[in-house]
Amino acid sequence: MMNTKIAGIGYYVPKRVVTNDELAQHMDTSDEWIQERTGIKERRYAEKHKETTTTMAAHASLRAIEDACINKEDIDFIVFATISPDYYFPGCGVLLQRELGLTDATIGSLDVRNQCSGFIYGLSVADKFIKTGTYKNILLIGAEMHSMGLDFSTRGRGVSVIFGDGAGAVILQPTEDENKGVLTTHLHSDGTYAEELSLISPGCHGGYHDDDMGKYGFVDPEVLGEILVTETMLKDGLLYPYMNGKLVFKNAVVRFSEVIHEALAATGLQKEDIDMLIPHQANLRISQFLQKTLKLEEGKVFNNIQKYGNTTAASIPIALCEAHQEGKIKSGDLVCLAAFGSGFTWGSTLIRW
Ligand code: UT7
Repeated sequence: MMNTKIAGIGYYVPKRVVTNDELAQHMDTSDEWIQERTGIKERRYAEKHKETTTTMAAHASLRAIEDACINKEDIDFIVFATISPDYYFPGCGVLLQRELGLTDATIGSLDVRNQCSGFIYGLSVADKFIKTGTYKNILLIGAEMHSMGLDFSTRGRGVSVIFGDGAGAVILQPTEDENKGVLTTHLHSDGTYAEELSLISPGCHGGYHDDDMGKYGFVDPEVLGEILVTETMLKDGLLYPYMNGKLVFKNAVVRFSEVIHEALAATGLQKEDIDMLIPHQANLRISQFLQKTLKLEEGKVFNNIQKYGNTTAASIPIALCEAHQEGKIKSGDLVCLAAFGSGFTWGSTLIRW
């Protein structure tokens, strides 16, 4: 059977740099708090009206296409992971197809909604399509425009300081070299804590999943159940993401570690064999914890959350691309990607570069 290799890679981040000090002008926060708790120094925000999740994805895609030395017409399938789509529906896959001028091709496009793990979920699906000979040039993207949907008042500070915008893309192709490419992928989820990192409205839940909607700010039961969006939802800021940061953090450190060990066990490799670990950029403290517990040498864990914040589905492909461009990933290296996030969902993969 064929293996799946990453034949091309590209990323795009918007020009506008937003510092912690700039956020502190809008909400009660500080550069010191944000850096100490998250490691983030700055993030990028897209230019409203001119940029969207899809347009950023298109920039990243064209770079990946060029890097793979193919024509965009060679793409035979699109997999698009995001939690900040341009539209509620249709998904960004078809919008990207149109943006790239590929509508003549009537190729398929799949939208992935697995939050921070979206890129790894997408990679796992694409890997199977390549391995079974279904497609030969899959464009896989993770892209986010969080800045459009954050609460920039003090009410939203626990969430809004973390997120940033950007996009990363890879071209996946078959290779006959069985020692190269995606060696293994592992996906998990547990819906027990679905609401603990979520954006539940607008949605069709009508309060069904939890008797105590008060903790998400829904103090008035009348607000729920009748209509998708109400004026009260707008007024009370219920259309913004909610996160129980401490609970997410505690689960993240356990699941990241578990799923990395699972990938190593499946391939008979040891943690010492990892040349570069690229964790989803959720919090610098999570990455540092992983480096310590896995006993990985300095320089074997790649972090760029300091510059871009948490870009959810885009964080792994952006980091992978930067690490590669900085010469930190060489041919033959063992690269481990791992993610954890809302759902909860988590996953890992090992790639022989
Ligand atoms: O990407 C998907 C996965 N996501 C994650 O893995 C995120 C995991 N969680 C985290 O990264 C951390 O929990 C956060 C960075 C979100 C928060 O850090 P924390 O150390 O867990 O802080 P906390 O939420 O427990 O809040 C501590 C204090 C609170 O004040 P009191 O109650 O102690 O008076 C918060 O109100 O810090 C306050 N606080 C802030 N203060 C200044 C919360 N956000 C801010 C802020 N600026 N931006």
